[in-house]
Amino acid sequence: MSKIIFSGVQPTGNLHLGNYLGAIKNFVELNDDNENQCIFCVVDLHAITVKQDKHELKNNIRETAATFIASGIDTSKSIIFNQSEVHAHAEGSWMLSCMAPMGWLNRMTQFKEKAGKDKEKASVGLYIYPILMASDILLYDATHVPVGEDQKQHLELTRDIAQKFNKDFNCEDFLKVPEPLIKKKFSRIMSLKDGSKKMSKSDPSDLSRINLTDSKDEIVNKIKKAKTDSYPIPNEEIKLKDRPEAQNLLGIYSSISNQTLDKTLNEFGGKNFLDLKVQLAEILSNKISPITNEIKKLTNDKKYLDKILLDGASKAEEIAGQKIKEMKKIIGF
Ligand code: TYM
Repeated sequence: MSKIIFSGVQPTGNLHLGNYLGAIKNFVELNDDNENQCIFCVVDLHAITVKQDKHELKNNIRETAATFIASGIDTSKSIIFNQSEVHAHAEGSWMLSCMAPMGWLNRMTQFKEKAGKDKEKASVGLYIYPILMASDILLYDATHVPVGEDQKQHLELTRDIAQKFNKDFNCEDFLKVPEPLIKKKFSRIMSLKDGSKKMSKSDPSDLSRINLTDSKDEIVNKIKKAKTDSYPIPNEEIKLKDRPEAQNLLGIYSSISNQTLDKTLNEFGGKNFLDLKVQLAEILSNKISPITNEIKKLTNDKKYLDKILLDGASKAEEIAGQKIKEMKKIIGF
């Protein structure tokens, strides 16, 4: 059976190396397999769970679509669209919220992190956001969802919601229970300044991440300034325990070079971080710069990007609209 792949990325600006290595690079591999039907969504409804600038949001939607294409997603094979263009996502989200227990949502750690200390001031949207994510996935009968490690809990919730819906409405197998596709290794890229924190677009320090729009000089500078420790690089993985920054840089090097951590440790074991940093900056520049240049080129052609998104939305609408119709019937509307 062919796989149906669905994933989403928020258009909140500053797409970074974590998004690329944790998600987008895998989207491209899945897109390259002709057996798969791939659907990649710019999740703009998710983005407004925190305040957005109206003009920046529009630009970020186009830039996210441009990043997908610049990274190698082929729009003649895969559907690329933005969520707010397909009504079924919000509608499905409402129906699923009416059967998902609050207790399940209360367990979501990402809400706790994002809402911070002042939970009362966080939007309701931020709280129920994982249900919108479940709706995104379930409307397409997605069989596989490629994401970074931080989305694991949301995918578990999606699976639980699908099973509960099928049980509550006695419609076995109507909502397909999707499999997460999370790489065993390198699926959580950490901040360059603090190996205990995830690389994130909301980190106030730009030095903590490599943005996909960074110039070669910026990449070199950020890698040069990345935090390390004072021991040499080991030649065995076990010796990386309690050395989060070393683990992160070696992981990034392995992932971007498509090689195992063991191979990287063989290359650099016994050397100091300067050697690793020089080569890491070089390989990152070589791999990221062509993407950066293509993103710049594509974002100058708004008409082209808008057409891709519109065509994608009409294809997505066909699939999701049909599922919503069936869902309404099952519910009793
Ligand atoms: P978002 O926009 O925060 O991130 C997009 C993708 O990038 C991955 N990612 C990372 N991977 C490794 N290391 C990191 N430091 C890192 N930071 C981000 C994320 O895991 C994600 O795969 N809720 C989702 C978007 C979403 C979605 C969906 C995903 C909405 N609906 C349906 C899959 C299916 C999010 O906020 O991702």
